Amino acid sequence: MVQELIAPESVAAELITAIPNDAAATESPPALEALRRAFGVPFAHIDGGSGEVLRPTAEMPGGDWALWGEMSREVAARGHVELIDERGPLLVLAIPLGATSARGGMTNTVAVAAFLTRSVTSSQDIQNLAASLGAEVPQVAAWCHRQTVWTADALLRLAASAQHSLIVDARNVTLSSHVDKLSDNLASTYEEITLLFRLTENLRLSDGVSELGRRALEWLFEVVPAKGLAAEFSAETRLDEIPGQHASLPDFLTFGQFPLSHAEMDDLARRVCVAQSPQPIVINHHGGNQDQWLFPQVEQLILVPLISGGKSFGYLAAVNHVSDLEFGTVEARLLGSVATILAIHCGNTVLYREQAELFSGVVRALSSAINAKDQYTCGHSDRVARVAVRLAEEMGLAQDMRRTLYLAGLLHDIGKIGVKDEVLSKPGKLTPEEYEHIKQHPVLGYSILKGLKKIEPVLPAVLHHHESWNGKGYPDGLAGEEIPLIARILAVADAFDAMGSDRPYRKGMDDENLDKILHDGAGRQWDVEVIDAFFRAREDVREIAKHERETIKLDGKVWA
Ligand SMILES: [Fe+2]
Ligand SMILES: [Fe+2]
Repeated sequence: MVQELIAPESVAAELITAIPNDAAATESPPALEALRRAFGVPFAHIDGGSGEVLRPTAEMPGGDWALWGEMSREVAARGHVELIDERGPLLVLAIPLGATSARGGMTNTVAVAAFLTRSVTSSQDIQNLAASLGAEVPQVAAWCHRQTVWTADALLRLAASAQHSLIVDARNVTLSSHVDKLSDNLASTYEEITLLFRLTENLRLSDGVSELGRRALEWLFEVVPAKGLAAEFSAETRLDEIPGQHASLPDFLTFGQFPLSHAEMDDLARRVCVAQSPQPIVINHHGGNQDQWLFPQVEQLILVPLISGGKSFGYLAAVNHVSDLEFGTVEARLLGSVATILAIHCGNTVLYREQAELFSGVVRALSSAINAKDQYTCGHSDRVARVAVRLAEEMGLAQDMRRTLYLAGLLHDIGKIGVKDEVLSKPGKLTPEEYEHIKQHPVLGYSILKGLKKIEPVLPAVLHHHESWNGKGYPDGLAGEEIPLIARILAVADAFDAMGSDRPYRKGMDDENLDKILHDGAGRQWDVEVIDAFFRAREDVREIAKHERETIKLDGKVWA
């Protein structure tokens, strides 16, 4: 019968969490309080490891605590409720409580209390009990008088039930604490995911690294409890020189109350070797040893390097906790995730920049090759390019189209590289054969450029810039709108520059004649809409043609 009431041994282990850790040895742990309420008497608290009494019960006169302590050690080891002594009407009950905080650490403890199995009123019984407990007779008599009478079976049943209830409480405490932790984690994970989502949504190369960094700081400030944030980007991540890109913001950005200057923050970053750190660096100096710390304005700090592909592009820093607490792993992880995205963006930006520079280099080289081959028309390509862009602007065409036209202008005569020198440089009139030979240059140019993926949009202009609106041009004899728009625009810019500029063997045509030819050619050789745009922008176009440039630039701000 008694065996059925005994809690399984695993129960004692579960009770470990039954007693909150903050219960000091001098205070009655909540489990002892619960037992006192259940049994109506206070329990002594005994160390299950040493058998020492941690907290006696003032209620009990005397007692064989040496024996009961020793028995409690065994009870603690076995983990279930037991009667550990029987002296006449006196029964001593021991209930293992699992680990309880005591003496600054966690100890397996046992609750112990004595009970009577019958009413003790005779002076002989009281004297015997007093002798057995080593206590004064009057105290024992008073104690006996206060006791409720129990049976062993009832005591064990109630003890088992109380222990079970403590286990349930313990589980509730554990679950509740898990739920709290989970909820905290969920909240911070949600914040992190939201922040990262917002950032990745804004990963546009055209915005530049600094712009993304500025937004990252703004959003981080909403979720990281820091008074100030900063981001530093290395110079190579700047996009100023790349065609079509916005000018970058400064490469040191701050948000909130950031207490250090750029130079001071760089110094700090260098001292803690952030560029070599694979993990976020967390420094909490508040209340600690400040002697070695050179930045008294910085109490707490998280510093994360921006590293991608083994290259460092700067760092991200959070400074001074808003509640003067320490920064922990949650904040560090958040900064780390944002830093990863920023670093990848930096890496992509640098790659993009290198590609753009390579592309510009190729275009410049090809353009120089035409000039070198055909010295008589030096500067022609650059002027055609700029005039074509002005015409496209006048026609309200989009930025992409203008950029393509600019490149088309620079490269439209690249096929002349394959034309014989003596034909290209012949000062006088060409023979029909020579003319046929020179007419090959659009097709030759197309063949030269067609392998370059990035130049693909330019190809129709290169191939068809000598087509004529009436279908009498070359190489394909296209007519009207069969001719790609880009080629129709380029054709006008090309004719304007070819007729208007001086050549060693002839003077450039005067404005009046030139205007007449273009005017008469509208709807015959050239697209009327392009010619109309030319006449609307005529003054600008003439200015552009007069202005020579030493080097060709591919910067969107200067090509027109
Ligand atoms: Fe041409
Ligand atoms: Fe040309």
